[in-house]
Amino acid sequence: MANDEVHKPVNTGRRRFLTATTAVVGAVGAGFAAVPFIKSWNPSARARLAGAPVTADISALQEGQRLILEWRGQPIWIVKRSKAILEALPTLDSRLRDPLSQNADQQPAYVLEANPELRSLKPEISVLVGLCTHLGCSPEMAAEIRPEPFDPEWKGGYFCPCHKSRFDMAGRVFQGVPAPTNLVVPPHHYADDNTIVVGVDPQGA
Ligand code: FES
Repeated sequence: MANDEVHKPVNTGRRRFLTATTAVVGAVGAGFAAVPFIKSWNPSARARLAGAPVTADISALQEGQRLILEWRGQPIWIVKRSKAILEALPTLDSRLRDPLSQNADQQPAYVLEANPELRSLKPEISVLVGLCTHLGCSPEMAAEIRPEPFDPEWKGGYFCPCHKSRFDMAGRVFQGVPAPTNLVVPPHHYADDNTIVVGVDPQGA
């Protein structure tokens, strides 16, 4: 069950990261790659991610499962992490490029307040933009703690087959891979215990 996906409206195959988010709203799958890449428009990560919110009910999400939404033309992953995964995250710090998420472009500050190694509002629920920070492929989830061909010490995480970047279950990038930064955590908050709103910061944040 570790790699199960509850809902998968987004093709998780290779895709290009498009900064022209206003042009690709509603474009999914094959149509995604057909939209021209607009190099001249390069807003900040926060501005790029601003947009209409998307709401998700996570009451049925089980440990090791991933819910995939689309928000502003980007895949948004909502993953429920097990206690074992949460305990493993701090043990990875020495192998990571930015273990405490000091690059402020990659997440809102409020997800670091409780525990910077988890990068989440609730410990068990991780919310990430599912696009590799190298060239924008969508990494594969390998959520189980077990040796993998790409890492014999694997503690669960995401593997980008495009150029072999690796991220842990908090979206933190490993050292020695092409991806320069951690995966982006989008702005989000909980409307109630089981309802996530992606695209809007918590009140007062
Ligand atoms: S796009 Fe992910 S490693 Fe290059």
